[in-house]
Amino acid sequence: MKVLLLGKNGQVGWELQRSLAPLGELVALDRHSMLADGGCGDLHDLDGLRETVARLRPDVIVNAAAHTAVDKAESEPELAQALNAAAPGVLAEAAHAVGALLVHYSTDYVFDGSGTAPWTEGATTGPLSVYGKTKLEGERLIAAATERHLIFRTSWVYAARGGNFAKTMLRLAQEREKLTVIDDQVGAPTGAELIADVTAHAIRQALRNDACCGTHHLAAAGETTWNGYARFVLETARDLKPDLAIKAGEVAPVPTSAFPTPARRPLNSRLDTSNLRSTFGLDLPHWQHGVRRMLAEIL
Ligand SMILES: NC(=O)c1ccc[n+]([C@@H]2O[C@H](COP(=O)([O-])OP(=O)(O)OC[C@H]3O[C@@H](n4cnc5c(N)ncnc54)[C@H](OP(=O)(O)O)[C@@H]3O)[C@@H](O)[C@H]2O)c1
Repeated sequence: MKVLLLGKNGQVGWELQRSLAPLGELVALDRHSMLADGGCGDLHDLDGLRETVARLRPDVIVNAAAHTAVDKAESEPELAQALNAAAPGVLAEAAHAVGALLVHYSTDYVFDGSGTAPWTEGATTGPLSVYGKTKLEGERLIAAATERHLIFRTSWVYAARGGNFAKTMLRLAQEREKLTVIDDQVGAPTGAELIADVTAHAIRQALRNDACCGTHHLAAAGETTWNGYARFVLETARDLKPDLAIKAGEVAPVPTSAFPTPARRPLNSRLDTSNLRSTFGLDLPHWQHGVRRMLAEIL
């Protein structure tokens, strides 16, 4: 089996390089990759993407690349549209042409964040930002081009590699007596490792059974706010590394309105994952489990 991975160096892409390797031959590309006989890994080069798929004829295409800079997307909507909508649409057409399964990632930001109930896959969408709108358009273009797709909507992604919210909190907590973190957005921090592992399991099942295809919500179990997340990071860091010089004695709660950003974010980012768990027979661990593991790795 041949698997084509795009966006190999992102948070999720990096972990997919590990989790997809046992499935077969893995061709992993980033935006700078050029194939010797034509084709590339740049989502901005639609002809290059078509050529890559036509030449490699993969059984599975996994797209982990995207325009993920949510605030920046507000001032560069054309680029966000090109990477988050046009490119996945072209990948879906190319996948359909060679009979490949397309795996893609989307976001809780396709919802407007109203209410308190977890969002199901069929719930009405209403993105508040350019990022959310373009990700939703990408979903729509994929579904129009091929039924053989898996779209995983996930939330609050972190990884040990590169910068992340937990590392920022740990740095600030060593510099300041008090942190101020918003407490009115609710969701589940979800590890890139978990997303990558679930993806590999799901691919195996979707290849055997087309009925598994479609959109699935994929997030760690439980819920918290960014404030609760920050407090958990500091408590766990104190536990794992008592000699760490954490000064911050308080993580004060504030509303989202206290930190205005170019992009509006949903307040309710809870994702109902029962569809994914029953379709694939998988369990999703509590968000604290993955965050604790990540902290144990970086501290
Ligand atoms: N991060 C989150 O909290 C979150 C939440 C919900 C859903 N998601 C979705 O989950 C997926 C994976 O996200 P992530 O957190 O792993 O994102 P990430 O770490 O920002 O990775 C995105 C990757 O896309 C690459 N990329 C950007 N422009 C490209 C282009 N023109 N051609 C090829 N590659 C390009 C980036 O490469 P460079 O490093 O070279 O720019 C980066 O490696 C995305 O679909 C995202 O929308 C993320």
